[in-house]
Amino acid sequence: MNKKILITYDTESGSTREVAEIIGEEMDKLKAESDVRNIVDVDNISEYDTIIIGSPNWYGKPTPKIKKFLKKHNQELMQKPFAFFFTCMCLTKIEGENSPDLSVFQDPQFNIIPKLKNEMNMWEKSHAGSFYIKQLSKIIPDVKPVSVAVFKGGLDFSRLSFFHKIVMKLITLMIKEVQSGEYLNPDAVREWTEKLCVDLLK
Ligand SMILES: Cc1cc2nc3c(=O)[nH]c(=O)nc-3n(C[C@H](O)[C@H](O)[C@H](O)COP(=O)(O)O)c2cc1C
Repeated sequence: MNKKILITYDTESGSTREVAEIIGEEMDKLKAESDVRNIVDVDNISEYDTIIIGSPNWYGKPTPKIKKFLKKHNQELMQKPFAFFFTCMCLTKIEGENSPDLSVFQDPQFNIIPKLKNEMNMWEKSHAGSFYIKQLSKIIPDVKPVSVAVFKGGLDFSRLSFFHKIVMKLITLMIKEVQSGEYLNPDAVREWTEKLCVDLLK
């Protein structure tokens, strides 16, 4: 395989970087040439054949740095195989709602029980896999990812900014699924990477 792959991520407390690094290690095993880089260190993506972007989920959406990067490279992303992953604390599923032409890889750590939309609260609705895809396609409407994955990440207050610490402490009081701890499941990341390689590197 002689395709060059960029795996780029934003992170505040390290989980999304860890996922990116595991993807990079898996790519190495599959003899694919990949670079794992923080989004702030990536300017030009023209040397890469394939792009994988990872973002922590902030309030149901990618981080501002990732949004900016996606918009800036919109044209190139339309022309290259592209995959996206989120790390977050919550993922829900609206019963009967499936994205017609794009599936979401769900980390089994989430233990999802589908619910009818009219039985969901605002938080649950804004954490459905279909909602994540909608958020992504609002930023880059003409780019169709090969795959989107959602992995459970980690919440480490000691590594958050003062403001984020306050906000997230409040959220932990309101949402029982959001609690501090490290929940990253490397096996799920490896499973997604293997599946992805079949599509990306053919
Ligand atoms: C500002 C902020 C907002 C967040 N919003 C959500 C959210 O809406 N839903 C969720 O499941 N997790 C949320 N999280 C948790 C992060 O998505 C999760 O901890 C992620 O794995 C962190 O990635 P990182 O360690 O790479 O920074 C939020 C975290 C921060 C700091």
